Amino acid sequence: MLSYRHSFHAGNFADLLKHITLVYLLDYLNKKDKPYCYLDTHSGAGLYDLTSSHAAKTNEFSEGIARFAQASLEQPQLLRYWQLIKKINSGTQLRLYPGSPQLASLLLRPTDRLLLNELHSTDHKHLVALLSQDKRCLIKQEDAFAVLKASLPPKEKRGLVFIDPSYEKKDDYQKLIQALVSAHKRFATGVYAIWYPVISRQDTEAWIQKLVATGLPKLMRIEHCPYPDTSGQGMTGSGMLIINPPYTLAEDFKKLLKELEFILRQGTPGKIRVESLS
Ligand SMILES: C[S@@+](CC[C@H](N)C(=O)[O-])C[C@H]1O[C@@H](n2cnc3c(N)ncnc32)[C@H](O)[C@@H]1O
Repeated sequence: MLSYRHSFHAGNFADLLKHITLVYLLDYLNKKDKPYCYLDTHSGAGLYDLTSSHAAKTNEFSEGIARFAQASLEQPQLLRYWQLIKKINSGTQLRLYPGSPQLASLLLRPTDRLLLNELHSTDHKHLVALLSQDKRCLIKQEDAFAVLKASLPPKEKRGLVFIDPSYEKKDDYQKLIQALVSAHKRFATGVYAIWYPVISRQDTEAWIQKLVATGLPKLMRIEHCPYPDTSGQGMTGSGMLIINPPYTLAEDFKKLLKELEFILRQGTPGKIRVESLS
């Protein structure tokens, strides 16, 4: 039984890192005419209402997208992401927050394909209501790891695999490593982007070391932590692991993360990290 609902967390500081990375990677894939497949293993509901009772209950978006909305942005990738947020919000009010499927549907071209998967029945229904009319989308309600196994390599032989688990089950971390190794064997040229939370620094580093030890090549890590590392105090930061990143990603993210960190700062400066792991 899944209990996590992303509607409580949409637009928080971690979503910004995740979705800015997503937009960056899709823009990169769009540079070539050749069609590709976007596989979103943990899609969520697709689109979130920031005036809903769920959003109001945690108010997490006030430390994320609401801050971003007030900032004067400089880095082109931040402006690019903000344009997409504005596109789905008519007028000046920030009410709707696009999740990964909605962002991808805005960015993929008519010849590209979206394979979206969400296991939770309520969020799966929302996703179907939002995107089932879009001929490019195939929406599934299966276990993410089974979908990964069944869908790779994509027939286009190009693509982004976006993996954004809720890590509700303890073994999700270990299962993810195994699934990635197996996915990479079948689709070595794909771009993979995996979101992870920083809750206990020690556990995060131990898990990342396990992933590195598998020998997966061309692995990069970007991370943003607005809060200091404190084990047992909830999520203090989050990161993205990217396999086969664009060669420009490290330099671009070093600059844009500095600006993002400043916008989302909680009193004392947060920490950012951009590093190659292989
Ligand atoms: C962090 S949310 C996804 C948010 C979404 N990617 C976005 O950026 O808008 C994680 C989602 O994974 C779903 N989920 C958790 N375990 C799953 C599994 N084994 N297979 C498929 N979906 C799963 C949860 O129901 C939840 O909606």
